Order: sequence, then C-alpha cells, then structure tokens
Amino acid sequence: MEEKKKYARTLVTTALPYANGPVHIGHLAGVYVPADIYVRYLRLKGEDVIMIGGSDEHGVPITIKAQKEGVTPQDIVDRYHKIIKDSMAGLGISFDVYGRTTSETHRKTASEFFKKLYDNGEFIEKTSEQFYDEEADQWLADRYITGTCPHCGNEGAYGDQCEACGTSLNATDLINPKSAITGNVPVLKETKHWYMPLDKWEPRLREWILEGHKEWKTNVYGQCKSWLDNGLQPRAVTRDLNWGIPVPIEGAEGKVLYVWFDAPIGYISNTKDLIPNDWEKYWKSDDTRIIHFIGKDNIVFHCLIFPAMLMAEGSYQIPDNVPANEFLNLEGDKISTSRNWAVWLHEYLDDFPGKQDVLRYVLTANAPETKDNDFTWKDFQDRNNNELVAILGNFVNRAIVLTNKYFDGVIPEAHELTDYDRATIDEFKGVKEALSENLETFHFRAALAEAMKLARIGNKYLADTEPWKLAKTDMARVETIMNVALQITANLAIAFEPFLPFSAEKLRKMINMESADWNKLGSIDILKAGDRVEKPVLLFEKIDDETIKIQTDRLERIKQENVLNNFTPKAVAPTVTFDDFQKLDIRVGKVLECEKVKKADKLLKFTIDDGMKGRTIVSGIAKFYNPEDLIGKEVCFIANFPPRKLKGVESQGMILSAEDADGRLVVIGPHGEVRPGVQVG
Ligand code: MF3
Ligand code: ZN
Repeated sequence: MEEKKKYARTLVTTALPYANGPVHIGHLAGVYVPADIYVRYLRLKGEDVIMIGGSDEHGVPITIKAQKEGVTPQDIVDRYHKIIKDSMAGLGISFDVYGRTTSETHRKTASEFFKKLYDNGEFIEKTSEQFYDEEADQWLADRYITGTCPHCGNEGAYGDQCEACGTSLNATDLINPKSAITGNVPVLKETKHWYMPLDKWEPRLREWILEGHKEWKTNVYGQCKSWLDNGLQPRAVTRDLNWGIPVPIEGAEGKVLYVWFDAPIGYISNTKDLIPNDWEKYWKSDDTRIIHFIGKDNIVFHCLIFPAMLMAEGSYQIPDNVPANEFLNLEGDKISTSRNWAVWLHEYLDDFPGKQDVLRYVLTANAPETKDNDFTWKDFQDRNNNELVAILGNFVNRAIVLTNKYFDGVIPEAHELTDYDRATIDEFKGVKEALSENLETFHFRAALAEAMKLARIGNKYLADTEPWKLAKTDMARVETIMNVALQITANLAIAFEPFLPFSAEKLRKMINMESADWNKLGSIDILKAGDRVEKPVLLFEKIDDETIKIQTDRLERIKQENVLNNFTPKAVAPTVTFDDFQKLDIRVGKVLECEKVKKADKLLKFTIDDGMKGRTIVSGIAKFYNPEDLIGKEVCFIANFPPRKLKGVESQGMILSAEDADGRLVVIGPHGEVRPGVQVG
C-alpha cells in the first residue's frame, strides 16, 4: 500500500563526473541510470522531485591532462563537459539541470560558503611542508611527484599512490622524488592551509548515521562505521594550485579550494541556476528529502565530509540517503579512463543508434548494487536477444498484431472473465506492489525483474489462451482475451517508463495512451474498448554476432596497446665475465630454405648457409612470419648447442630473436653485409 508521505519534495543529486574524460558504462551503472530510474518513478507518481547533475571541472587530474596535451585546463573541461552533457541527454538521463563547476554561480556560491565557515571560526589553520619545484616556480600536488616506491621499488610511483603495488603514499615517502613538470628534485617548503576539523563533528555524524540511518545500504553504512570507528582527523580544504576557486581570504594568494570542498557545493549552485527563486526550499526546509546517488569511492565525501560542511554552515538539510553502488568491471578487468578500458557512452550511442534502452536495460539488470559486477558484450547480446526481444518485444508485438488482424486495430470489449483470466490479472496486480517497494528502497535490479515479470505473465497468457486458435469458433472469447492482453500492454507502458523510457514512449504511441500514470498500474481498465491501437512497431531487434565482434575486437586491440604502452624492461641479469660470454658460439647465417614443420603450428624449419656444410635449425616463430619472407635473410644463431629433435626434425642450433612486450618474436640479424659463418662477439 502507498506509504504516507513524510516529505513534501525530493532533491536527487548525482555525483558530478570529472570533466577529464567522457562518461563510460561504469559511471552509468553506478550512478546515472539508477538515479534516472528513481526520478522518473517519482515523477510518474506525481511527486515533486528535481534531479541535479553537472560536471566537476576542478582538481589535479584535469590540470595533468591539460599539461599532457599542451592545452589549458579550461580547454579540457569545455571539451568533456559538452561530450558528457550531450551523451547523457542521448541516453535519456533526465536531469533538470546539468551545470558545471566553472560557472560564475558556482564560484560565488562556493566562495561564500567557505567565507562563512571561515568567519565563523570553523577552520583550523596549519602550516606544513610541501614539495615545490623551484624552476617551474610551482607547488607540486602529490600526483605531480614521481619517485621510487618504498614498498616495492617501482621507480615510477606517484606521490599519492604506487600503481605497481597499490599502496597509497605520501609524496614525502618516495625515494628520490622528482617533479613531473621539470624532472628536478623538488624542495620542501612551508605552506599554510585551512582544515575542516572533522573530529569536532564526529559525535554528530556518528549519531546521525550509526543511530539514525540503520536503513542505509549495508556497504554505505559499513564504510561510514569503519571511518568513524577509526576516528576522524582534520582535513585540508585548500590546496596550492592554480586551477580552482581562489581561497577568498587575505593571505591566501595562489591557493584554491580543494576540489572535494567545492564540487559537492556544485549541487547547490546548480539548483540555484535551475530555480533561482526557489532553490532554498529544496535545500533548507525540513520537509525536503535529499538523496545523493554516487559510486562507492565517493562515500566518505558524501556521508561524512560534505555533511560536516553543511552542519558547520548551519542552514542546510543533510541527506536522507546515499544509495552508493559498487563498481562495474568490463570483461573481467577494472574500467580505466587512462587505459581506455571502457565502453564510452558517446561511442555506444554512435555504434548502436536507437538502442539506448538496451544499454539501460543491461546496466540495470546487471547493476553493481551489492557487489562489483561485470559487463560483457556476450551478456549484452544475450539479454537483448533472450529477454528484450524474446519476452517484452514479443508479447507487445503479438498483442498489437492480433488486435490489428482480428479487430482492425479497434480495442475489443472484455466479456465474462474466466478463472484463468482472473488469476492472471491477480498476478499482475501483485507486481505493482513489489515493483514500487523495490524502487522505494533503491533495489533497481529487483524492480526491473518485477517489470519483466509482467511481460512474462503477458506472454504466458497469450500462449495459454491461444486466441489464434479460437478465432474461427469463439470470437467473443477472443475479444476478452485481447482486451486483457492490451490492458497488460498498457501496464507495461507504465511499468517500463522509468527503466526503458524510449521503448515505453513507442509503446504508448502504439496504443494511443497519452501519458503514463503510476497510480493506474495494476488496473485492467486503462484502455477503453472502441479506442484504436496503431500498426505495430518493433520495440527491439536481435543483435547479431557480427555486431558484437566489432566491439570485442576493439577491446582486444586496446588490450594489446596497453601491454605495449606499459612495457618496462626486465631487471638486468647477474653479471657474467667475458669468458662466460665467449663460451657461446654465435654466428651469422643466411636462410636458404624455410618451411612449416608438419603437425606443429609454432615451428619453422630452416636450412641455413653457415659457410660450412650447412645446417638445419628448427625455431618456434611460425606464428610471426611467413616462411617465404625469411628466405635470403641473414640471421644470427647459436652454433654450439647440442643437437636436439623437435617434432621429428633434428635442430642444430638456435636462431636468435627478441621477444616484444606482447610476446611477438622478431628475428635478429646483422645490419651490414657479412659472410655466412662469421662469428658474432
Ligand atoms: N568528480 C568526482 C568523481 O568522479 C565526484 C564528485 S561528486 C561531488 O569521483 F560531490 F563532488 F559533486
Ligand atoms: Zn609500490
């Protein structure tokens, strides 16, 4: 049953993605698709809700990207803000506003927020030592310092983390620290910063979350509890950086607000831009409900730091719920913007025009709600073909086709219902409650499964009643059956609106249903007998292997590129003497013949002119060369290995080759002309 509303309006915020790259399926599954489902659901119920989004345009990753490309940070955020905004709109993510943290409204709002806390004495000032690059005349953020990891010896560790062993570091932990800007050795200099004393807010945060919000998702509650149990420390909210919102107080020249201080205030700024005269109602009245949709790496900021900021400011509401998701992986590996290991939304929209709902469906059915999950193209194809096409699409299509066939598109009247009809109707009435309950509690996968159940009920109903068989004998019964089937279709148009808005709209048009109203879900008189349906339009179509292969091939290519780009030479082997080296007899030879060894797909058999009587050498490089291409080439080989048999062929030596990072073998030879048989040394 409808629960009594304890609130008058809902403010939904969605994590502001960094504008240093496009959005990918991980962002979508974690934040934007679930938030959009939730907001669409509340709108269908007629509730007062606004959905706030925008780009997070400050922070060090953006300055690093700009520096790499030789452009300004503003160029970077302009580029990605547009891509992100357009692609989200393309997927039907229905933000009421999609703003940006470089806007004037935001600069002013964040500045004033900081100033108020400063004036009220909410910060502590602390001086600490930070690295400075004297040649570049610039402070160095942790990411701008590289050096040797004290834990694993990796020479390319960053000042905040070693990516080889995963340890988080302080820049001062690094052995031989170097500035990433000039390569110079940085110096430590004193600098002053402002800190939020989180320890002061700990008792209130504890009570608010650990006592007051036991209903939060266990992953969120658990992470908060562990932070709180470890004890909160003061956190710096300013940085020495030239990209960001200037710290609005005297003596803070060259310093900016820490990106995690300004970004969540972006939710407020963007609300101001949306409703300049009304925004306070959504942030400050106690009959407002605030919900933050985020990924799990954002939990501490949204559950502890931002609420502490809001408490310190004093006039704002703190969130009611923070339904954070876990991560989505791609084909078994962690999604990574820098390694290009992702399915990018803007590329998906280009590659799969008109298939927004397929992606929305797969990301919801597979949402990482309670644990990390994996996106695979195979699963994408299967869910499209076996669920969207075979169940939902099939039922809707049958209902519309049969109505056109038997009744010329006019919705027939229902006469007497049989027990079976009634049982079917009862079953789908039950779906509404389960569906609403799951949506209210942020269980979107389960909610989608309920909506699918409705389509399954419809499919089963037509399969069991077989109206096509009755058409010759009992048209009155066919009328009843098709009326029921069309009412189920109308229910589907409502139930799927939050999940698959594009298809739900097509479906509504097919049955001439003007708008979807959640309150009508579960009823069997949504459509009126005598009204018309249109000709059928396919909601979904099969996706073939060819189409999927294009995507998996792309990922395969990226994997290869990553292996090559991340190549680091192996450590040098223990020292040997010249005498050791001289024991090997390495010579130059000329390839006279070369052919595949039968029944061995890796082996090539060489006949080598060695300046003597010639010799046969078998080498495992067949995957990398056409035998013909090697004939006439000069190669280096070891002449004094004992002969050994490989697949029945005696090999008298070994041809030298280099193994590239991806395992590819390249044969080694001299760069000038030499006589076969001469020694290498
Ligand atoms: N840009 C951050 C990220 O991608 C999220 C910022 S959320 C906000 O992890 F609260 F700061 F807006
Ligand atoms: Zn390390």
